[in-house]
Amino acid sequence: MFVESVVRWGPWSLVLLLQLGGLAVFARGCPPRCECQPDPKEVNCSGKYLTSAPEGFSSDARRIDLSANMLKTLGRRQFYGLQQLQELNLSDNLISMIEVKAFQGLHNLRTLCIKNNRLKIIPVGVFSGLSNLRFLDLSENEILVFLDYAFRETVNLQVLDAGENDLVFVSQRAFVGLQNLQELNVDRSNLTSVPTEALSQLQSLARLRMRRLTISALTNNAFRRLHRLRSLQISHWPALDTLASNSLIGLNLTSLVISNCNLSAVPYPALRHLVYLRFLDLSHNPITAIQGNLLGDLLRLQELHLAGGGLLRIEPGAFRGLAYFRTLNVTSNQLSTLEESAFHSVGNLQVLRLDGNPLACDCRLLWLVRRRLRLNFDGRQPTCLSPEAVRQREFRDFSEKELPGMFTCRPARIADRRPQEATVEEGTTVLFSCRADGDPAPAFTWISPNKGVLASAGRIRALSNGTLEVRFAQVQDSGAYRCVAGNAAGNETLSVDLRVTPSVATNSSAQMAKPYPFDAKTLVIATTMGFLSFLSSVAICFVFMFFWSQSKGQIKHTATIDFVPRSSMGGGGGDGDGGRFTMKLI
Ligand SMILES: *[C@@H]1O[C@H](CO)[C@@H](O)[C@H](O)[C@H]1NC(C)=O
Ligand SMILES: *[C@@H]1O[C@H](CO)[C@@H](O)[C@H](O)[C@H]1NC(C)=O
Ligand SMILES: *[C@@H]1O[C@H](CO)[C@@H](O)[C@H](O)[C@H]1NC(C)=O
Ligand SMILES: *[C@@H]1O[C@H](CO)[C@@H](O)[C@H](O)[C@H]1NC(C)=O
Ligand SMILES: *[C@@H]1O[C@H](CO)[C@@H](O)[C@H](O)[C@H]1NC(C)=O
Ligand SMILES: *[C@@H]1O[C@H](CO)[C@@H](O)[C@H](O)[C@H]1NC(C)=O
Ligand SMILES: *[C@@H]1O[C@H](CO)[C@@H](O)[C@H](O)[C@H]1NC(C)=O
Ligand SMILES: *[C@@H]1O[C@H](CO)[C@@H](O)[C@H](O)[C@H]1NC(C)=O
Ligand SMILES: *[C@@H]1O[C@H](CO)[C@@H](O)[C@H](O)[C@H]1NC(C)=O
Repeated sequence: MFVESVVRWGPWSLVLLLQLGGLAVFARGCPPRCECQPDPKEVNCSGKYLTSAPEGFSSDARRIDLSANMLKTLGRRQFYGLQQLQELNLSDNLISMIEVKAFQGLHNLRTLCIKNNRLKIIPVGVFSGLSNLRFLDLSENEILVFLDYAFRETVNLQVLDAGENDLVFVSQRAFVGLQNLQELNVDRSNLTSVPTEALSQLQSLARLRMRRLTISALTNNAFRRLHRLRSLQISHWPALDTLASNSLIGLNLTSLVISNCNLSAVPYPALRHLVYLRFLDLSHNPITAIQGNLLGDLLRLQELHLAGGGLLRIEPGAFRGLAYFRTLNVTSNQLSTLEESAFHSVGNLQVLRLDGNPLACDCRLLWLVRRRLRLNFDGRQPTCLSPEAVRQREFRDFSEKELPGMFTCRPARIADRRPQEATVEEGTTVLFSCRADGDPAPAFTWISPNKGVLASAGRIRALSNGTLEVRFAQVQDSGAYRCVAGNAAGNETLSVDLRVTPSVATNSSAQMAKPYPFDAKTLVIATTMGFLSFLSSVAICFVFMFFWSQSKGQIKHTATIDFVPRSSMGGGGGDGDGGRFTMKLI
């Protein structure tokens, strides 16, 4: 710009420049090309194409702005002598190297901004002398690691922004010395786990922000000794799908954000101990339900945000126990309703974002439409999707007069109430249907003869369309089953009878075998297997004997047997030879 204007305005701009220069000279010690203001002492050298830090700053300068230049390096004692300097802005340069002790002598520096440069490493000692620094911005550099003791001398630092670097590693003692740090940002880094050890040095840390990380799980004890931490923000971790139950243990948070992650459920166990939590944001996670009675430990919770998730339902009792709850933000989900019974007390509710949901405007939302003028919808009115007659209508458009005929329900009515009885043989599969209509569409519950609620899985199961399925019926399944069809407006019950008779499929032989708990097939198999195992034992014995006999070298393989012939057998018989023979053993 400077060069452009010289070219365009020719001699005039030069004259102007000389005049400006003259003014600058007036203000004692103003470096060339910079603009200096006498009171307070400010030097503005922003955007002046400077390739190195200028000399000649007035020793009583309070603020120096060197941003948006082309500085590449800062030398040792670069700013020495500027004892009054409180703020130094070096952002938007090309700095890749800062020598050790570059800031030596800046005892009063409070704010140092080195944002958007090309730093790859912070050598130990770079910040020496900055004992009063409060705010340090190192964001948007290319820093890969924080080494041990990198910040040892900035003992009064309160805010450190280290975001948007390529951090892959934070050494265990990197944050030693930052005992007064209150706020830390490590947005967008390539860390593969939370730097638990390094963070545990930050005894005063109150706010921690970590956005855009690729970590997929928070392990137990991920944050240790951060007793003062009150606000934790984890967002845009697209792979984060697991929060171990003790991952947040030791923390006493008042505000927690875990948004734009991959959580598929509210991490109830991990949150349970956060009894001082007031603000919880779980927006933009694929969470489908807020379950009943699981958030009650968060006694002081005031706000819950779960915008843009996959919420299909908020169960009755979801916010039970939350006496201070006043803001619910569930915009842009898949909720068809929000029942009054979800809340501890709707009288405390002040702000509700329910827009962007496919709402069924029936009796379940009557409580809400009645409060439409009192509640703060944050400028976004909830809109009905059904019934057809009120499609797309906003809540505030309903007049008091027309309400009585609207937001109604029809209680569940079972369509076919004829008695159902089935007598079947053991082993058969039986279906009992239970169809009902009503508005909203009824839900079905099947109750077994011994009063248990039947699940949707198992041999005897309640299908979601209301049908009861009994597979491989057994004699003990006999009895009366009850179907309860219900919706917000009412319930109706249907009873069916099942009688299962013993099987006659394997009649004569099976009856003979009756005393045995096995059937014929089992017996055949068992017998066969028994015989086989007997055979194999014998075979193993033989094999063993064979090897045993082969291996013992000293064993004789022949036996010599002597006998005394009876006198009657040979009179003139020869001598001893005749009374002996040899046999070979194998
Ligand atoms: C310095 O001057 C630039 C324009 O040259 C201006 O945008 C910037 O705000 C000034 N900085 C300060 C600290 O006044
Ligand atoms: C430093 O300068 C940049 C660019 O001019 C500006 O955006 C930033 O706010 C300044 N930082 C401080 C701490 O004044
Ligand atoms: C950090 O992650 C980004 C995006 O995933 C990648 O482009 C970059 O190369 C990584 N840097 C390092 C040092 O690993
Ligand atoms: C999020 O979780 C789902 C399964 O729960 C998985 O299919 C998907 O890949 C995950 N997304 C990311 C970015 O890890
Ligand atoms: C937790 O934080 C709250 C709110 O800041 C505070 O009142 C309470 O004393 C803290 N409890 C502990 C054990 O630190
Ligand atoms: C609700 O959440 C949306 C989306 O995150 C946000 O834009 C809006 O400001 C929030 N409203 C309130 C009242 O918090
Ligand atoms: C319910 O579903 C089951 C299996 O999906 C099917 O066999 C049965 O006919 C259905 N019942 C009704 C009443 O639609
Ligand atoms: C329907 O039955 C359930 C128990 O099964 C009961 O809690 C509920 O109050 C009943 N609803 C109505 C409208 O009678
Ligand atoms: C009984 O068994 C016999 C032969 O085993 C068979 O022919 C007959 O059909 C069986 N009866 C029944 C009712 O299954």
